[in-house]
Amino acid sequence: MSFAVFKSIGAYVPEKILSNEELEKIVDTSDEWILKRTGIKERRIAADGELTSDLALKASIKAIERAKINKEDIDLIVFATITPDFLCMPSTACILADKLGIKNVAAFDISAACSGFIYGLSVAKAYIESGMKKTVLVVGAETLSRIVDYTDRTTCVLFGDGAGAAIITASESRENAILDIHTSADGGYWDFLVTPLAPKGVEGGICGSHIKMKGNETFKLAVKTLASDCVNMLKANNMESSAIDYFIPHQANYRIIKAVGESVGLPDEKVVLTVGKYGNTSAASIPMAINEMYETGKLKKGHLMLLDAFGGGLTWGSCLSYFDCE
Ligand SMILES: CC(C)(COP(=O)(O)OP(=O)(O)OC[C@H]1O[C@@H](n2cnc3c(N)ncnc32)[C@H](O)[C@@H]1OP(=O)(O)O)[C@@H](O)C(=O)NCCC(=O)NCCS
Repeated sequence: MSFAVFKSIGAYVPEKILSNEELEKIVDTSDEWILKRTGIKERRIAADGELTSDLALKASIKAIERAKINKEDIDLIVFATITPDFLCMPSTACILADKLGIKNVAAFDISAACSGFIYGLSVAKAYIESGMKKTVLVVGAETLSRIVDYTDRTTCVLFGDGAGAAIITASESRENAILDIHTSADGGYWDFLVTPLAPKGVEGGICGSHIKMKGNETFKLAVKTLASDCVNMLKANNMESSAIDYFIPHQANYRIIKAVGESVGLPDEKVVLTVGKYGNTSAASIPMAINEMYETGKLKKGHLMLLDAFGGGLTWGSCLSYFDCE
């Protein structure tokens, strides 16, 4: 049997920074409110013409280099995003394959909003463990600034742009492997987070939509669901929270992250927080946070990570995995 190993990580963020102070000039908000309610100080914004696949390309190149593989070794690209380059087709995974210069590869997008990267990891793990693929590029990348309404203060302060990518490889040994992944959804809450398309007949077609969110309801459900998902993940693997080196959750709001960390019994130094610098980057937030820990030298080969995410759908998921990058 093959095991799936988290071989490397890479990330990229656009240069342009949008600070809370700049947002104060656009909508009726304040640095104090945003910081207190979300922990966000600033977020990155893609340049005009900079697409999700452009951010993903830079993140993927780093991940490929760090995994010490040839790009031709990749036999599957799984791309998690809610801001694809094109609507419906072609997939952003195919655009990325072209930009990477890989000709013969399976490639598709998945839509699981902020849980997209964990869903992507679960797909990679299943393909590898079944023996169908050996080297999978899993990407979470977003240009959320394209679908944010900068007149709506309840959403525009939250979201940012960025990309993260990981190489997952097959191994004969369970040592340093991805131990377990759990994914789930409850479509009964589909209307908590939506980007409605314009109805048929509207000039300009169905695009031009914006994120709409029931923020407070989402907040409460996120804390409850994520806490029990993490506890169940540890229990299912006969592990205590003390075994975890880093808890790397989706970066939506520091209050959600703190509350979940406390319920799981994780001390602050094990709880990774990058939301202050980047805001909520949906499917990109977890790989971006893993990358931050790797580049600052804190996350090392052999460390055990607990990942978890919650997002539109509603979807959620968690992953217990060793990190195997030198
Ligand atoms: C969005 C969020 C930060 C709002 O915080 P909250 O404490 O729930 O705040 P509420 O929505 O209850 O709003 C409280 C007040 O702040 C106001 N407010 C909302 N956004 C504001 C802003 N940017 N600046 C100033 N005031 C704001 C509201 O209008 C409301 O005013 P009112 O009491 O006069 O009606 C929070 O609900 C959240 O993080 N939700 C989850 C987000 C999330 O995880 N989304 C994606 C899942 S991946």
